[in-house]
Amino acid sequence: MNFYPHILILAAGRGKRMKSELPKVLHEVLFQPMIHHVLDLAFAIPHSSVSVVIGHGGNEVKKSCESYSNLQFFEQKEQRGTADAVRAGQGFLENQTGHVLVLSGDVILLRKKSLENLLKLHESEKAACTLVTTHLNNPTGYGRILRNENCQVVGIREEADSSAQEKKITEINAGIYCFEIGALFKSLAKISNQNRQGEFYLTDVIELLVQQNAKVIGVPFEDPEETLGINDRFALAEAEKVLQKRVNRFHMENGVTLQGADNIWIDTKTEIASDVTIESGVRIRKSKIASHCKIEANSRIERSSLHAGTKIRQGTVIDESTVGEKTTVGPYAHLRPESCLGREVKIGNFVEVKKSTFKDGAKASHLSYIGDAEIGKEVNLGCGFITCNYDGVTKHKTVIEDGVFVGSDSQMVAPVTLGARSYVASGTTVTKSTPPESLVIGRVKQVTKPGYAKKFLKKT
Ligand code: UD1
Ligand code: CA
Repeated sequence: MNFYPHILILAAGRGKRMKSELPKVLHEVLFQPMIHHVLDLAFAIPHSSVSVVIGHGGNEVKKSCESYSNLQFFEQKEQRGTADAVRAGQGFLENQTGHVLVLSGDVILLRKKSLENLLKLHESEKAACTLVTTHLNNPTGYGRILRNENCQVVGIREEADSSAQEKKITEINAGIYCFEIGALFKSLAKISNQNRQGEFYLTDVIELLVQQNAKVIGVPFEDPEETLGINDRFALAEAEKVLQKRVNRFHMENGVTLQGADNIWIDTKTEIASDVTIESGVRIRKSKIASHCKIEANSRIERSSLHAGTKIRQGTVIDESTVGEKTTVGPYAHLRPESCLGREVKIGNFVEVKKSTFKDGAKASHLSYIGDAEIGKEVNLGCGFITCNYDGVTKHKTVIEDGVFVGSDSQMVAPVTLGARSYVASGTTVTKSTPPESLVIGRVKQVTKPGYAKKFLKKT
C-alpha cells in the first residue's frame, strides 16, 4: 500500500452514558485507557500524521497520551457533535493533500488488517469516502446505513432521528471513515444541527457527498465485535471480554498454558515465552515472562520481568521488579517497586520486599519486611526479620553481606551493615555495623526461677 492517510481520532465527547467524572476515553479496557488502544492501532498502520481531537477533560486526556510522540492535539471547545469535532482539525488538515482516516476514541477493537483492507479499497476505488459498517442483531443506539435499490450507500440516519421503518435496518455505521480531504471539508461546511439532538453530525456528510455524485463505499465488516462502540459500562465490559479473549488466544497459540483463561487478564503490552503456565485469577500488565515460569492463582504482576523458571506462588503481588532464574516468590508475598531478586532466591509467605536486592541463593522464607536493603549471596533471613529503614524522616539502608545467617525475630536498625558470614542470634536488635564473621547477640538475658510458676499463678 503506498498510501499514507492523516489519522484523526475523535475523543472530545464527555461520554454521558458512562455516568463518570472521568472522560470516557480514559476509562480502562484491559489496564489501558481506551484512547491508548486507538493510538496503538493508529501508529501501527501507515500514516502521514496522527492527531486527537480533545475537549471534555482535554488536559487529562492529553496528559495520559504523553508517552506517544509525534502526536498533535486539536481542541474542540464545545462538544457540538462529531462533524464539529472534525472541524477542530480543519486548520491543519485543509492544508494537507490526500486523505484522512477518522477513528473514534470509543471504538477500540478494530483489527489492523481490517483497517488496512479498508484503506486499500478506498485507494483502489478512488472513493471520496469509504466507511465501515456491520450487521447487528440488535442495532439499537447506532446510526443506520441507508442504501438505495442498487445497494449503494446514500446516507446514515442517527437512531434519535430515525423512523420506525429505519430502526429496523440492521446495518450500522461504525463511526470509522476514510475521506478525501477536499471533499470532506466542502461538505462539512454545509452541515446543520437541525436534528433531534441539536448536534452537527459527521454522518450527514455522507448524504451530501452522494448528492454531489462523489463515490461513497460502505464496507460491511464480517465480525461485529470489531466495531463495538463503548458508550456505557456494559459495553466496556463486553469490549474487555473480547480483547481478553484475543490476547489470551495469542499467548495460548504461542505455547502458554492458561488454566481458566476466562479468569486471566493479560494486557496487550506483556510478552510471554512458551511453556509458561498461568493459573486462574492472575492479572499481568506491562511485563515480560520468560519460559518455564509458573504463576499461581490470583497473583498480580505489573511492570516486571520474570526470568526463566521462576515460580510465583498464589496470591502474590509483584510491581516494577525483576525476579531471577528459578526463584520462588510467595505464596502471599509482595515485591514493591525497584526490587531485584537474583537466581534461586526464595521469598516465602507474607514477606514484603521494597527497593531491595537479593543476590543469588538468598532466602527470606517467612513473615518479613525488607526495605532499602542489599542482601548478599546465600544469606538466610529468619522468620520475622525486619529492616527498620525509616526513622520518621528519612529512609536508611541495610547491607547484609554474603553468607550471613540471621536468626528469627531480628531487626536491623538502619543504616547498618553486617559483615560477610556473620551470625546474628535470634531476637537480636542490630543497631551497629559489624565486621565479617562476627557473632552478634543483642537480647535481654533470660532469668529462670525454678518452681516459681505455681506461686506466680496463685498470686495472679
Ligand atoms: C456515532 C455515530 C453513529 C455511529 C456510532 C458508532 C455520529 C453523529 N454518530 O454515534 O452513527 O453508529 O458513532 O460508534 O457521528 N465526539 C467528539 N466531539 C463531539 C461529539 C463526539 O469528539 O462533539 C467524539 C466522542 O468522544 C467519541 C466519538 O466522537 O469518541 C463518537 O461520539 P459518540 O457521542 O460516542 O457518538 P455515537 O452516539 O456513538
Ligand atoms: Ca460512541
